[in-house]
Amino acid sequence: MSYVASRLSVVKPSASMAASQAAKALRAKGVDVIDLGLGEPDFPTPLHIIDAAHFAAKAGQTLYTAAAGTAEVREAVAGKFRRENGLDCTADDVVVANGAKQIIFNALMATLETGDEAILPAPYFVSYPEMVKLLGGTPVVVECPETTGFRLTPALLEKAITPRTKWLFLNMPGNPSGAVYSQSDLEALGAVLAKHPQVLVLSDEIYEHILFDGREFVSFGKACPELKDRTLIVNGVSKSYAMTGWRVGYAAGPGPLVKAMSTIQSQSCTSVCSIAQAATVAALNGPQDEVARFRHAFEARRDLVVDGIRKINGLTLSPPEGAFYAYIGCASLIGRKTPKGVTLEDDAAVANYLLNEGRVASVPGAAYGLSPYFRISTATSEEVLTEAIARINAAVARVE
Ligand SMILES: Cc1ncc(COP(=O)(O)O)c(C=O)c1O
Repeated sequence: MSYVASRLSVVKPSASMAASQAAKALRAKGVDVIDLGLGEPDFPTPLHIIDAAHFAAKAGQTLYTAAAGTAEVREAVAGKFRRENGLDCTADDVVVANGAKQIIFNALMATLETGDEAILPAPYFVSYPEMVKLLGGTPVVVECPETTGFRLTPALLEKAITPRTKWLFLNMPGNPSGAVYSQSDLEALGAVLAKHPQVLVLSDEIYEHILFDGREFVSFGKACPELKDRTLIVNGVSKSYAMTGWRVGYAAGPGPLVKAMSTIQSQSCTSVCSIAQAATVAALNGPQDEVARFRHAFEARRDLVVDGIRKINGLTLSPPEGAFYAYIGCASLIGRKTPKGVTLEDDAAVANYLLNEGRVASVPGAAYGLSPYFRISTATSEEVLTEAIARINAAVARVE
């Protein structure tokens, strides 16, 4: 008997979670593995946010809330979008969900008809294609090579659009590449989109505060206000405020879309945890100095990793412009042999070799739609990163 519906046959579990599981399994056998698979800030949630949650719980904010989020949280999100991103936005344009992931899932659930296409510039966040497929859509992967800074160009976009295109996904700074788009990059993409009124844009800006070298973040909504009625700006507190476990994501978009997303939510999870919503109000409206401190720490780690990886013969790394990952090129290892005589056929084999022989868990580039690379998360201490780089170096040196 099959318990599982056929719609699941096309969906893979998350590759970064799988890498972490593999690391945990080795650890359970007593092997000392450094897990650089999963991407989440290693800092505690700032204390004033925890205090706000505590206060909310004690004050009786323990009931279901409106499906789209409390009035306070939607006002706080709209204020953040106006203040930080220059968006023309009110609380009515906002919906809150259990993480940016659920926002994206709800948006696709609300809009995709079977066979509708979603353009995914690669390398992409691992969950995008799986969500698209789960909801009956067709991912259209557009490889954005390192030579374009891992960015989608207007020419690549134009080529990928068809009459069935429903969504274009953008993610900046990007997971896994760290790529950022400038105002003029976004305007150039907007000019292409202006010719194709059937295309909606999902701009995932969850890493906006983790930006390096003095760059200024430009939201897609700010660069292309003329596309407002077909743009969904996605964000959340997970990465900026070290709140991955609180599960709060949010978005601003056209009224009918936001309403449909909130209807889906009302029938699936009712609402986001009331206490986590109160914590989100404190995160968005409260002091922002911890956000700046996290950014500094991530930039120092980025520098350490770029410096260390670039010294390893056989690996390449363009300095990530934001986020907390390094997308490491391993082209020159492909086809070579490990000390055990195994040929490294692809980046999955490289990641596997680094795990089993180097004792460092990473995620192969195949999971992000652009090979041959592997991704490490840099959201861990400088000591751990230094040790991981030494292990990667030793393992790569043993490849024949
Ligand atoms: C690009 C991107 N979007 C969304 C998410 C998920 O965010 P959340 O924790 O808000 O669901 C992640 C998490 O890794 C991510 O990398």
